[in-house]
Amino acid sequence: MNRRKEVRAMTIEALENAPPVAQLLSPLEYILTDHFRQRALCQALDELADSDALDTEQAAAALDFLKTEFSPHVIDEEEDLFPLLRRRAEPADDIEEVLGELSLEHATDRDEAELVIGELSSAIEANGSGFPSPKFAELLHRFAANERRHLIVENAIVMPLARARLTADDLRNLGRRMAARRGIDYPETPNAD
Ligand SMILES: [Fe+2]
Ligand SMILES: [Fe+2]
Repeated sequence: MNRRKEVRAMTIEALENAPPVAQLLSPLEYILTDHFRQRALCQALDELADSDALDTEQAAAALDFLKTEFSPHVIDEEEDLFPLLRRRAEPADDIEEVLGELSLEHATDRDEAELVIGELSSAIEANGSGFPSPKFAELLHRFAANERRHLIVENAIVMPLARARLTADDLRNLGRRMAARRGIDYPETPNAD
């Protein structure tokens, strides 16, 4: 398999496979896995934007991820992780401005994700005819670039602080809320799958 095919296969695999249910017992790990999958999404969107024929399998994997996984992740952060961090952070952590910026980006990303979902669905329905228009290619690249920057800040600043400040109870509550949001029974033991 050449490098390009290998990356494509890894990207599709990451997009199609949700983290194991037992990872909800370590919800910060679950969020980091989601971030890894979002990187795969960015890779797929950049490749789709640069291609001259629609890769239907890759497009469908990206579309499905955007439709089903993107929104719960943003809600995990907005409704659970960020409020917990605000409660537990110490003044010297100086996290408020970073969280404020990330929340603004969530709002923009959500709007742009809707646009990408609409355009990708139409492209798949049209069997890739005329795909991608220069405007859509620009949107895909912009979305991927914004998302990558966002992930860097979350992984470098937010996640280490969460690891340092959240209590065992916070983590259990976070995991339970994330499970409920996805319609998954919260695993009481690490052997759940
Ligand atoms: Fe995130
Ligand atoms: Fe985020």
